[in-house]
Amino acid sequence: MKKILITGGAGFIGSHVVRLFVQQYPKYHIYNLDALTYAGNLENLKDIENAPNYTFIKGDIVEEDMINKLFDEYQFDAIIHLAAESHVDRSISDPLSFIRTNILGTVNLLNAAKAQWHGNYEGKLFYHISTDEVYGSLGATGLFTETTPYDPRSPYSSSKASSDHLVRAYYHTYGMPVVISNCSNNYGPNQFPEKLIPLAINNIKKMKPIPIYGKGENVRDWLYVIDHARAIDLIFHQGKNGETYNIGGINEWTNIDLIKKMCEVLDRKLDRPEGTCAGLITYVKDRAGHDMRYAIDSSKLMKELGWEPSLQFEEGIEKTIDWYLANETWMNNITDGSYESYYQKQYEER
Ligand code: NAD
Ligand code: TYD
Repeated sequence: MKKILITGGAGFIGSHVVRLFVQQYPKYHIYNLDALTYAGNLENLKDIENAPNYTFIKGDIVEEDMINKLFDEYQFDAIIHLAAESHVDRSISDPLSFIRTNILGTVNLLNAAKAQWHGNYEGKLFYHISTDEVYGSLGATGLFTETTPYDPRSPYSSSKASSDHLVRAYYHTYGMPVVISNCSNNYGPNQFPEKLIPLAINNIKKMKPIPIYGKGENVRDWLYVIDHARAIDLIFHQGKNGETYNIGGINEWTNIDLIKKMCEVLDRKLDRPEGTCAGLITYVKDRAGHDMRYAIDSSKLMKELGWEPSLQFEEGIEKTIDWYLANETWMNNITDGSYESYYQKQYEER
């Protein structure tokens, strides 16, 4: 049985990737290593927590000795590395935790894999999950491709860029089999309500202001999280050694248009008079160094591996809003912190 280590599996994207692999590949054993930071929530995986091919391990990827012992004990065949500090705003106020987890943590995993595999790389893979933000900021036109030079602007994107370079360094220097994918902004169930879409849904529901940074003209390309997980599955199984794949939704929105669209949907779903939700829009001070536009060319992934997004945005955002409205307890547990005390107590720190 193939043993696959997925890091950050209790987070937003990681939980969808873990579920997909556990359910789709009974011949794999999935080990989910997650430190359960504020962003990690085992409620995201409640439906599969007792699956026979699934094991949760609580641990911090920065803890070098623990990581080395884990690799010794389990002898992983492959790693899908998602654990990271992931929010730009937090990286502006606390860059060091991003350096720690995103750079040091990645190097610890690379070193542990290198020591375990010991040059015998047959059937092995280190798959690193990254972001389109490493490419910097676009003007009104153009798309990021796999050959766009790196130009990260925030502590978050700089730390992810650094980890991408390190993964490539292990490929070139030690011959480690690696793939990297760089994806655009994800949305969907289980996203921590610090990111724009769940934050807006939560505030709208509670009739609180929706903060829009600057003029709201910044553009993001939004991809439904399940389509990202499907791309990861495809790249894991069919991606070429040493290659990079861009993943995007072909779905660009200015922040203000996106929020207005969501407000229309939420007026309808919450039975509010037209324009009620949009009345909550509040322009606030812009984010420092706010990247203007991200947009991604996924044609390599589409042509070479046959991937395409399965959901149109209209459908994806309806599904997402429905999920948050139906999962009030999930949101309340996060916003009052109770998920931490309940779930985290069940697992001893390694
Ligand atoms: P998230 O913040 O929701 O989840 C991150 C997970 O990593 C959490 O479960 C957290 O507990 C865990 N973690 C954090 N530090 C850890 C540590 N030191 N040791 C072990 N576990 C730790 O993040 P996400 O949005 O799901 O992003 C997952 C990955 O995808 C990240 O690498 C991110 O850079 C990348 N990515 C995210 C997006 C997006 O739109 N969210 C887009 C492209 C790429
Ligand atoms: P975010 O979800 O934080 O993702 P990222 O910074 O990685 O793109 O933000 C998406 C966009 O929304 C970004 O341009 C910043 C903006 N934004 C707001 O206008 N208000 C908010 O409260 C947040 C969290 C983000």
